[in-house]
Amino acid sequence: MELYAVVGNPIEHSLSPRIHQLFAEETDQAIQYEAKLLDIDRFNEQVKELQLSGYKGINVTVPFKHQAWELADRLSPRARDAGAVNTLIFQPDGQIAGDNTDGIGLSRDLIINHQVLIEHRKILILGAGGAVRGIIGPLLSKKPELLTVANRTVDKAVKLAEDFKHVWDISPCAYEDLGYEKYDLIINGTSAGLENEIPPVPDSVLGINSVCYDLMYDAHKPTVFVEWALNRGALRAYDGLGMLVEQAAESFYVWRGLRPETGPVIELLRQDASSHSSIIT
Ligand code: ATR
Repeated sequence: MELYAVVGNPIEHSLSPRIHQLFAEETDQAIQYEAKLLDIDRFNEQVKELQLSGYKGINVTVPFKHQAWELADRLSPRARDAGAVNTLIFQPDGQIAGDNTDGIGLSRDLIINHQVLIEHRKILILGAGGAVRGIIGPLLSKKPELLTVANRTVDKAVKLAEDFKHVWDISPCAYEDLGYEKYDLIINGTSAGLENEIPPVPDSVLGINSVCYDLMYDAHKPTVFVEWALNRGALRAYDGLGMLVEQAAESFYVWRGLRPETGPVIELLRQDASSHSSIIT
């Protein structure tokens, strides 16, 4: 039985143990996957304890993704660009490798599960924090026509655009600068939903064919952002449950070399009475 875990603080509502258990059953892998609450100020030490006690790898969630990036002895290119790590691999030589599967998780959910096109489309991202940094690289690799990042603190959007300047010309702005352009895809990457709020984005960014996507999810009911989008006439709106399952599948692949089927797992989680609400990873 090989050991894996998701670490974070808080962690009790994490769906990752359930998802990985379903993947393990589906692919016939003998693994055990647990949720572990780490102390806010002892991340490095506690991760090394897990490594020493024989764990093969861990997923990392809020608020440790940047610390995991710093801790890793080496980084995959997608983790290096994201500035955040959600997957650590404890290697046989004792080294810790860091990867980031969030961005590929989002692009698989959008493109494969929901048939959303990114190439030549106008994309608006709300928020400029860690979650947004994790998804930008894979979105840019699909060559959108325009990528605007709006944030309450404009300086953070400007800094993000500077950090990705070598890849793409991202347009940073404030919410009050929006409204003159309609977007094909609007992604909510803010944590406003945790307080049941939506970012102050004008309705006029929505066109009749706009698709909205919330990185947050709620297995039971639409998130406030999904509700806002549908009430304002978005063509379609999705929460981030599919992304959660897709990023988990990519981590599973990184660790086990097998790619589980995600569709049935997403279905099951929606039906799962024991699912919890409004959390990331
Ligand atoms: P995460 O790792 O989840 O991205 P973060 O780095 O703290 O967390 O970023 C949170 C993001 O949500 C930021 O873009 C934040 O805007 P600021 O940079 O201006 O703080 C955004 N955010 C949080 N609450 C918000 C709210 N009520 N309205 C609009 N944006 C909000």
